[in-house]
Amino acid sequence: MRGWTVVGGGITGLRAALALAKVADVTLVTKEGASESNTHYAQGGIAVAMGGAEDVELHGQDTIQAGDGLVFERAARLLVEEGPARIEELLAWGTNFDRERNGEGDLMRTREGAHSLPRILHANGDATGREIGRALLERVKHEPRIHLHERVTTRELVVSDGRVIGVHALDAANGPLTFAGSGVLLASGGAGQVYSDTTNPGVATGDGIAMAYRVGAEVSDMEFYQFHPTALSVPGAPRFLLSEALRGEGAWLRNHRGERFMERYHPLAELAPRDIVARAIMREGIGERLGETLPVYLDMRHITGKDLHARFPGISARLSEYGFDLSKDLIPIRPAAHYLMGGVRTDLHGRTNVPGLFAAGEVACTGVHGANRLASNSLLEGLVFGVRAAEAMLQDGLRAETPIAAEKDAAAVRGSASAELDANRVSALRERLRGLMWLHAGLLRDQAGLSTIRSELNAMRHELPADTTRENAEMCNLHTVAELIVASALARKESRGAHARTDFPQHNPGQAKHSRMAQGHVDFIDFT
Ligand code: SIN
Repeated sequence: MRGWTVVGGGITGLRAALALAKVADVTLVTKEGASESNTHYAQGGIAVAMGGAEDVELHGQDTIQAGDGLVFERAARLLVEEGPARIEELLAWGTNFDRERNGEGDLMRTREGAHSLPRILHANGDATGREIGRALLERVKHEPRIHLHERVTTRELVVSDGRVIGVHALDAANGPLTFAGSGVLLASGGAGQVYSDTTNPGVATGDGIAMAYRVGAEVSDMEFYQFHPTALSVPGAPRFLLSEALRGEGAWLRNHRGERFMERYHPLAELAPRDIVARAIMREGIGERLGETLPVYLDMRHITGKDLHARFPGISARLSEYGFDLSKDLIPIRPAAHYLMGGVRTDLHGRTNVPGLFAAGEVACTGVHGANRLASNSLLEGLVFGVRAAEAMLQDGLRAETPIAAEKDAAAVRGSASAELDANRVSALRERLRGLMWLHAGLLRDQAGLSTIRSELNAMRHELPADTTRENAEMCNLHTVAELIVASALARKESRGAHARTDFPQHNPGQAKHSRMAQGHVDFIDFT
């Protein structure tokens, strides 16, 4: 089949598929139902400067400031300058952002951490990603050139004569499938499942990054994993995201003594950049005795004159399942892995170093977020860089001299048959990896812990299963992503943004560069 394969049904994949379908056929594959992605769970909103040149300039400055000296400024400029047009499109396509005066007035804007102005649009209070996904998916479903394949797990990229032309995959019953055409856009999102504590859904297993790395793609900035400061902390419950917009509306953070502590850590207090808030919460939660953990709380009890349940209907409903009332109770919180700033290294058009392979959104690293992403910039990233990648793909495809034939056979499975494990053992292996990553490559890191987990990961390599099922393929991918994070974190001997090394607590000016990893080696480069 001629045309392009897009992997991922979040905001980036959907928006890119629509841009590609103007000219080409698109095969859009998603691991679960098309709406299950990080996009679907994005609560707070989408940051955008709709107020003209000065507004755009400030959004750029905030993005650069939050990224702690590592934002690739050209990427940030593109994000903030092209963002407003992408939002106008969403509005034209029927996305219902919240408006003043009962939906009749201007777009409502809220403030979040490290933003100098209220510029975050939201939908249905705290269900922004779901609303944007709904509007895009509706359009995708009416586009005859887009062929949607749900419940398909991608295993391996298909390479022919040095060019990526498609993907080997598994259907819902783990039957082999191959999609091939002109090339592939990875829009497969992040890898939060590599950590035991994450706000990400189960699909976020870093498949795109691992597949790309295996065919020789360079990855960058893998040491920068953003930990969202406020996930619900109830034993045995998932780390449900408690949006930064809560703090934007005035929520405070309190330690176990009931003290508001953020003012001790940053002049912006609860609205400091995310990495600073997350580490402060972690420090306040470390007790005097080894292994002791003290509770930290989000507090909105002082907020009067606002109907918090109406403003945050999804969060309120979820909290009530655990017996909490947003306006009356202290809510126990803790940080959880949320967003990967690093990923498959691309230029500003989604091009990787491998012909035929493009990447955009969270799976990619353009340098737009530097060492720490500004709150609510990720949905905008998906729109802006999804379209830019699609435009470059169409140019690339039009230059392709001959049609590319589809391959018939699925690739040989990785791992050995003897390494095939039963589902329980794979699940135990996955949990072990996630726990070790949290412990040794989480919010605070050092040489000893990172070396320990590197040895563990080396040993684990021999326990990896053959990738003949979704769970097994995910296990292999999580392992690859963990290795990339750990190797990059070991190489960066400084603290910057989300990467905090207790043995190197300061910036190292010599490492104010992006890490790049290929074929097991890490170096540091400037993005140009
Ligand atoms: C949130 O609502 O806090 C998450 C949005 C984001 O990750 O930027």
